[in-house]
Amino acid sequence: MTATATALAGRHLLGIADLTADEIGLILDTAEAMKEVAERPIKKVPALRGKTVINLFYEPSTRTRTSFEVAEKRLSADTLNIAVATSSVVKGETLIDTVLNLEAMHPDMIVLRHASSGAGHLLSKVCRARIINAGDGMHEHPTQALLDAFTIRERKGRLAGLKVAIIGDLLHSRVLRSNVLLLSKMGADVWACAPPTLIPRGLERLGAHVTTSVDEAVRGADVVMMLRIQLERMEGNFFPSLREYFNVFGMTPERVALAREDAIIMHPGPMNRGVEIASEVADGPRSVILDQVTNGVAVRMAVLYLLAGGGDGD
Ligand code: CP
Repeated sequence: MTATATALAGRHLLGIADLTADEIGLILDTAEAMKEVAERPIKKVPALRGKTVINLFYEPSTRTRTSFEVAEKRLSADTLNIAVATSSVVKGETLIDTVLNLEAMHPDMIVLRHASSGAGHLLSKVCRARIINAGDGMHEHPTQALLDAFTIRERKGRLAGLKVAIIGDLLHSRVLRSNVLLLSKMGADVWACAPPTLIPRGLERLGAHVTTSVDEAVRGADVVMMLRIQLERMEGNFFPSLREYFNVFGMTPERVALAREDAIIMHPGPMNRGVEIASEVADGPRSVILDQVTNGVAVRMAVLYLLAGGGDGD
């Protein structure tokens, strides 16, 4: 059954795990309509007029925070950005106390990035405002997976039946988890590749083939998605050196040649050039890395609109 325009109204977006394939399709279809707003001379629609959205980021972000803010402004919402470093968090205020105080100002939605897996779930138990997970620890980053799916669908016309190779630091990646869940729900053939030390347990159960061979992952792939080596989340040595990691797992033009001739190259950013991806590949003709950023605005507009009750006339 196809999801109706109000299927997500009033819900939180905590992870891809909570969405059906039809609901994912609804978000992607809505994002197509939202993308057109960016082409207008006046890039604004009144859909969220009178709604207040708070962006609360406890971890650094360039793409996600700014594209949520652009999306909110294009929908005419009132937007507040909380700079955690200059808030009372530095005096020891807890996440729940911080959010309960923000809630006292009656926001409609809170976009949360936090270093702890499950932070959004915790807040959803105590908040009236809808929570949108903008990345929680090593758990999920649902809007990233949605914008990745949108970009793949835009380029390939479909998700079902595509071979998608995801290569990099799988162990620490919330982007990986959300993408494996989403792409396997939508019928793609997902291959995940990393050194053995960077492969999380149970990945096959989420729906991915797992390999330590880049050649096996990339051969015949329609999509090659590279993931960042997350040095800031690593304690101890997971591989001998960055140079050796690049030699064995880095995406080079020679390795790209194993993929289909029309394969696209993706990366959620920020990139470590010369570590997980060569600059010739990141900046090459098959790269859609900046398209992912462009599409992030449309996808986040769609999410905000649908959670706010899109299509119910308010
Ligand atoms: N892809 C992504 O989440 O990037 P930021 O950390 O810059 O938001």
